Amino acid sequence: MDTRSFSPIDRLLGEIDKAIKVLTAPAHAARETPAAPAGESLSEADRILSARLMRVNHSGEVAAQALYQGQALTSRDPEIETALRQAAAEENDHLAWCQLRLAELDGRTSALNPLWYAGSFALGAAAGALGRGIGLGFVEETERQVESHLQGHMQRLNPADQRSRAILEQMKHDEMRHGAKAATLGAAPLPGVLRMAMRLTSRLMTRGSYWL
Ligand SMILES: [Fe+2]
Ligand SMILES: [Fe+2]
Repeated sequence: MDTRSFSPIDRLLGEIDKAIKVLTAPAHAARETPAAPAGESLSEADRILSARLMRVNHSGEVAAQALYQGQALTSRDPEIETALRQAAAEENDHLAWCQLRLAELDGRTSALNPLWYAGSFALGAAAGALGRGIGLGFVEETERQVESHLQGHMQRLNPADQRSRAILEQMKHDEMRHGAKAATLGAAPLPGVLRMAMRLTSRLMTRGSYWL
C-alpha cells in the first residue's frame, strides 16, 4: 500500500490529470461490452436518435466519474472511499461501452462534457464534505435518478437497436447495485434542496448533451 502523503498541489494535479484523461482519452473497459451481436439495420432517423441518446448517456458517465472523484477527495472515510473507487471502476466500463457504441453509430461525444465534469466534481466534493450519511445518501439518490433515466431511454430507443439497449440494461443493473451498496453502508435521506439541485443538473445535462 502506498503510504506517501500527498500535498494539496499533488492532489490538485492528480485531479486535473484524471479529468483530462476522462475528457480526452478513450476509456478501456475491464468487462466486455454487453452489446448484442451486430447486424441491426436502423433507419437514418433511428441511428441519429440512438446516437443522441447514447451521447447523453456518455455524458452521464463522464459526470459519474467526476462525482465519484470529487466525493472520494473530500469524504475522508476509508470505507466510503473504497466503495466509491469500486463503483467508479464499473462506471469506467459504462463510459467505455457508451464511447464504443457512439462510434458504431457514427455519433460524437458532447462538447459540453468539460462543463458537466466540473459541475459534477463540485457537487460530489460538496456531498463528500457533508459527512458520511449525506455522502452515501447522495450516491443512493444519484443512482436512483440514473436508473430511472436509463429506463426512460430504453423506452425511447427503437426496439431494433438491441446493441444500445443491452448496454443500457447492464448499466441499469450496475447502478441499482451501486445504490443498494450505498444504502447498506448507511445512506441518510437528502435535504430536499440538494435533491432538487441534482434533478435540475441532470435535466440540464440530458437536454444539453442531446443537442450539443
Ligand atoms: Fe454508470
Ligand atoms: Fe453507478
